[in-house]
Amino acid sequence: MPDRTITELTIRRPDDWHLHLRDGAMLRAVLPETTRHFARAIVMPNLVPPVVTSTHAMEYRARILAALPEGAKFTPLMTLYLTEETEPADVRTAFEAGIATAVKLYPAGATTNSASGVRDFDKVRPVLETMAEIGMPLCVHGEVTDSDIDIFDREAVFIDKILRPLRKKVPDLRVVMEHVTTSDAVDYVRDSHKNMAATITTHHLIINRNHILAGGIKPHFYCLPVAKREAHRVALVQAAISGDKRFFLGTDSAPHTDPNKLQACGCAGIFTAPNTMSCLAEVFDVAGKLKKLEAFTSLNGPNFYRLPPNEDTITLIKGDPVRYPDQIPTEDGPVTVFDPGFDLHWRVEG
Ligand code: DOR
Ligand code: ZN
Repeated sequence: MPDRTITELTIRRPDDWHLHLRDGAMLRAVLPETTRHFARAIVMPNLVPPVVTSTHAMEYRARILAALPEGAKFTPLMTLYLTEETEPADVRTAFEAGIATAVKLYPAGATTNSASGVRDFDKVRPVLETMAEIGMPLCVHGEVTDSDIDIFDREAVFIDKILRPLRKKVPDLRVVMEHVTTSDAVDYVRDSHKNMAATITTHHLIINRNHILAGGIKPHFYCLPVAKREAHRVALVQAAISGDKRFFLGTDSAPHTDPNKLQACGCAGIFTAPNTMSCLAEVFDVAGKLKKLEAFTSLNGPNFYRLPPNEDTITLIKGDPVRYPDQIPTEDGPVTVFDPGFDLHWRVEG
C-alpha cells in the first residue's frame, strides 16, 4: 500500500544537476526562481557564443553571481561546452582550479545552440582521457542527430552507436546521461555498475508524447529529448522513486520567451524552475514514495559529483492547491511556466 499519510516532509536542500540560466535580462528574470529552493546547479554552457574555455566559464559565473537576488546563497557549478577544438590542458586547469565541475557533450545539431558540438568523437578522445584521469564528469546530451533516425528513437540509438563504444574506449570516464526519456536509457544506466549516472527532468516524469500532440499541438510541452510514450514515462518514475543512487534530478528548466516558443518553428525547452519541487512532491506522493524524494533531489547528485550534500533543509507541506504564476515576465517577453495539468498540493517553506 502506498503511504499517502505524510503531510509534512523536511529534506536537505535540493540541487539541480542540469539547468539553463541563459544570460542578460533572461538570467536576471529566471535566476531567483531557482535560488528560491535550490542551493547549487550544474549550469549549461549553450549560450551564444557557447561557454567553451575556462575563461568563458569564469566570466559567465561572475555574471551569474552578479545577478543573484539579495541574500541568496547559491553556488553555480559551471560546465564547459565540448568542441573538437577543446584543449585537454584547459579542461584540467578548469577542473583543478574549481572553475568548472563538468564538461558538456552536445552531438552537433542535437538541440538549442549545439552547432559547435562534436561530430567526430575520435577528435575529443584526448580531452575525455584527461577527464577520466582527473575524475571530471562528462554530461551527455544523449541523442544522435542523423536526420534519417526517427526523433523518438534518437536516444536509444545514441546508447548503442555512441555511448557504449565511447565508454568501452574510455572506461574510467565518469558519465552522466542527461534528461533520460526512455526505458532503454534507464535499463542501460541501471546495468552499468561503474562511472555512470543519469539525470531525470521534472517534466519527463509528468508528460508523455500525447501531451504534446493529442487534441492540438502544445508548444509549451515541446523539449529535447522529446517526451516519449507512456511506458517510458512510467519507467522514469520507477527509476526516480527507486532511491537508486545513479538517478537524480536535473530539471533541464530551459526558458524561452513565448514569442520564441509559439511560432511555426518554435524553440525546444520547458521552464520548470518555479514549481519543480511542488511537482516532484506530487509525483512522489502519488506513488507513495515521498520518503525517496530526498535521495532523488538532494543526496544522489552530490554523491555522484563527489560533493557533500547541503547542510540546510527545506520543508514541504501538503494543503490546499498552491498557485504558481502562469508566466514570468522578462525584458524580452513572458516565459510560460510548466503546467503539470493537475493540482499541486505541496508548498515549499524555507
Ligand atoms: O528542450 C531543450 N532545451 N533541450 C535541450 O537540450 C536544450 C534546451 C535549451 O537550451 O533550450
Ligand atoms: Zn538542457
